[in-house]
Amino acid sequence: MTKNKDSIKKSYAQTLKNAQTETSKESCCSEQKTPKLSLKPVQSIPSFGCIIDLPEKAGLKEGDIVVDFGSGPGHDLIRAAEIIGSQGKAIGIDMTTEMIQNATDEIEFKGLKNAEVRLGEIENVPVEDNFADVVISNCVINLTANKSVVFKEAFRILKPGGRLVDADVIAEQDLPQSLQDDNKSWCSCIGGALTKKGYTEALKAAGFIDIKINVDHSRHTEWQGEKIKMYSGIISAVKPL
Ligand SMILES: C[S@@+](CC[C@H](N)C(=O)[O-])C[C@H]1O[C@@H](n2cnc3c(N)ncnc32)[C@H](O)[C@@H]1O
Repeated sequence: MTKNKDSIKKSYAQTLKNAQTETSKESCCSEQKTPKLSLKPVQSIPSFGCIIDLPEKAGLKEGDIVVDFGSGPGHDLIRAAEIIGSQGKAIGIDMTTEMIQNATDEIEFKGLKNAEVRLGEIENVPVEDNFADVVISNCVINLTANKSVVFKEAFRILKPGGRLVDADVIAEQDLPQSLQDDNKSWCSCIGGALTKKGYTEALKAAGFIDIKINVDHSRHTEWQGEKIKMYSGIISAVKPL
């Protein structure tokens, strides 16, 4: 089963390599295709997320402190840093060394002084308590086996009144156990998807209030001859004052 972080790290190191070189790569989570190019310049690596404009949809404001869970190649992190400006701070967390390197190169390329990345796991975030105004995450939480711990970490690092805005794959109903146990499906952001109910309950248990889940676009997958309905959603939740 793939709740194994090493498989996920290997899978995303390879996904990044494909995007950096000549392979035409479909994002694991969105339906966008990147053009077939050879040796892409670092700044053209696309988001591997569920939606393409999470920083805009998250309603970030100038001066905000933002932490991006699973920042990957740095697309959303860079956009967040541009929106919040020099008075704000954007910190990306990712467990895959190659992703951290790509995001670091991109931050340097853009000359951004208000963005940084930290190698680490979102189950144990290298950020102090009550620090962030907003936690964003784009197609990452479905990859984690222990989502309750991740939500508790988001809650811990948010300031009171701060919010989580998370794009993720949501399953319309509980997934078959065989699909959940399938390594490839898990790494493709499908096997670990929660239902709307499961998401809401886990966020509530972590202490969040004002939980909203909005459908961005519908999708489906085939599993053993069965059509499984899923959608990309934007989840928002608030840490109480
Ligand atoms: C589907 S990609 C999304 C990347 C980025 N959010 C984007 O929109 O392009 C998933 C990313 O999450 C990272 N990741 C997965 N599980 C993680 C964990 N438990 N802790 C930290 N990073 C994780 C992977 O290394 C990968 O970079």
